[in-house]
Amino acid sequence: MARGSVFVPIHWNDQVASDARVGAVVNPVVDPVSGEPEFKHTPVRVDKFHVAWHGFSLSRRAPLLDGVTYWTRVQGTQFVRYELAGRNTLGESRVNVALGRALFGVDDAHADWLEYEDRAAGIYRAVHLVDDRIENCVFLSARPELPAREWLASLFAKDRLDEADRIGVLSGQPIGKGADTGPTVCSCFGVGRNTICTAIREQGLKTAADITACLKAGGNCGSCVSELRKLLVDTELARLNAA
Ligand code: FES
Repeated sequence: MARGSVFVPIHWNDQVASDARVGAVVNPVVDPVSGEPEFKHTPVRVDKFHVAWHGFSLSRRAPLLDGVTYWTRVQGTQFVRYELAGRNTLGESRVNVALGRALFGVDDAHADWLEYEDRAAGIYRAVHLVDDRIENCVFLSARPELPAREWLASLFAKDRLDEADRIGVLSGQPIGKGADTGPTVCSCFGVGRNTICTAIREQGLKTAADITACLKAGGNCGSCVSELRKLLVDTELARLNAA
């Protein structure tokens, strides 16, 4: 992007995010024939969007979003994922527990919840099970770093969580079932960031073409290649810093 320009995606609506309609912020002037708004002639001032907490939820039904300042919806095959952020403060007041549970409207006092809370760090994680099957889960934190979503999302395809799943689920990682592959970088071949970084480190990969030869990532549509190059640089920087 050229410095001084602002990019905003179009084609989003209120079904997929809380505040994503670019039409709401541009001049209300449209081309008389096509109806196209004056996207490229709108004065812009950009401010940082400060929030007090970050999080995500995965659930079989859409959550209730009271108290959530910002959300984005991603439809999966057996779940819906919401990326969340809020301006109300988490922490001392257990508002995170209240918010986390309220998202799913579960008022059964005997409901099967697995929960973890660290009030000092502003972290709350909860998984709601029904007949040993995952129904809802939410991960909230005062910091933006959160577990990868892929493995948690895969649990929605299971009829019941086994003991190892139950142990791993609050950390967002499988226990004793191999490495967490990380967020997907190459969606054509389903290759995750951790898999790529491990291959770069352990096999001395130097170029995106090396990664493609090793893992196939980048070998189809090519839209992930710029991220592969960035991972090469990041991994090399991490190696130099550790040396
Ligand atoms: S996303 Fe990696 S090749 Fe298409």
